[in-house]
Amino acid sequence: MNQIRNIKGTHDILPENSHKWQELESIVKNVCSRFGYQEIRTPIFEETGLFSRSVGEETDIVSKEMYTWEDRDGTSLTLRPELTASVVRSFIQHNLGGQSPIQRLFYMGPLFRRERPQKGRQRQFHQFGVEAFGSANPEQDAEIIAIAWHILSQCGLIENTVLNLNSIGSGECRNAYRNALKDYISPHLDQLSETSQKRFINNPLRILDTKSERELDLLKDAPKISNYYTEDDDTHLESLKNFLEAMNIPFTINHRLVRGLDYYTKTVFEFNSSQLGAQDAMLGGGRYDGLVEVLGGRPTPGIGFAAGMERFLIAMDDQDRGNNDPIVDIYFVCLDEKGLPRTLQLSNELRNNGFKVIFDPLRRSMKSQLRDANRSGARFALILGETEMNDNAIGFKDLKQGTQKTIAQSEVTNFFDNLTN
Ligand code: HAM
Repeated sequence: MNQIRNIKGTHDILPENSHKWQELESIVKNVCSRFGYQEIRTPIFEETGLFSRSVGEETDIVSKEMYTWEDRDGTSLTLRPELTASVVRSFIQHNLGGQSPIQRLFYMGPLFRRERPQKGRQRQFHQFGVEAFGSANPEQDAEIIAIAWHILSQCGLIENTVLNLNSIGSGECRNAYRNALKDYISPHLDQLSETSQKRFINNPLRILDTKSERELDLLKDAPKISNYYTEDDDTHLESLKNFLEAMNIPFTINHRLVRGLDYYTKTVFEFNSSQLGAQDAMLGGGRYDGLVEVLGGRPTPGIGFAAGMERFLIAMDDQDRGNNDPIVDIYFVCLDEKGLPRTLQLSNELRNNGFKVIFDPLRRSMKSQLRDANRSGARFALILGETEMNDNAIGFKDLKQGTQKTIAQSEVTNFFDNLTN
């Protein structure tokens, strides 16, 4: 029979790596809670319309990357390709805006996009992210960027990362700019790639995203969006720049940064890493002041970001962080079937006192169990054989120092507490 394997573009996270995930998750939780952000968890699948209405019908994500199917009752469902839309849906549905004028939320979890898999790009991947609802002011943008900055710093990634910042302006500005850009590109249309020609019709700003040298050259003298900012767009960006400078967060203004989702207004940003190769975006986000209303809520400004956890872990792998946390503290060697109830009982008492304890459910010989104990990385072994059982005692062995002694069973937990204090 053919062995069933995982689906292309998905990955197993094995025990040898899961501790790295836990480390990243705990940094994210820590930093977010220091900024007063609370966790939100939403379902992995949603009605398809949620994503087409928010991310945009013409985006790559919605037009070609979603895993969509018809449920038995005919509803079109989709595995979430991003989390902002789901969080906004939940924000509206549970009237979170009514509970407090500012909502500060963070999340972590898997997402699904049917992209061509490569290093740092998968079909099932994971993001952590934050979303803040309620403030249209630039200090909120600054706070969101500061959260990203803190997490990157704590992960030791700040040195190799650049913050690219842009404002794509309000709707009014974007309309005027879109026309100007189209006028500029129009005479050169036949020189553009097929993708860019499509974008010219659906979303001309995305042409700025091109990586093709030829197209970049062509765009060299293209009009800049900053020339189309309203006064409000301009002051918003200037204030944000001041706030970032006040926090010593360096940034590069990149007028070509437009991002691939339709809901953005004004501020957009990305942290790009020099450690990642082609898929160098560690984290991306921006302001989406119209999105809550588009999805049927009361007009509420919002801003957030999401980061690719796999990409963080690839970059973090370049550092030697090591895992010094032992998997096991005590290996319980039981040599007599009659000793099993006592083994299970004493192991639990030790676990209640905070020790990591394993025993051998294969009933192997003393020699094999001690070999296994050494392999497990345990610092200590407890040995319960027939003699010990008769004496209400237990053998203790320090596997590092090789010392051993016999202790009373009633003293086991005290003994370990004293040993480690
Ligand atoms: P995004 O730029 O589509 O934004 O994704 C954010 C990050 O997710 C990327 O910078 C990248 O690190 C990671 N990522 C995206 N696709 C993949 C993939 N196929 N494999 C591995 N990693 C990937 C959003 O998702 C927005 N919801 C961000 C946001 C939140 N904007 C406002 N709030």
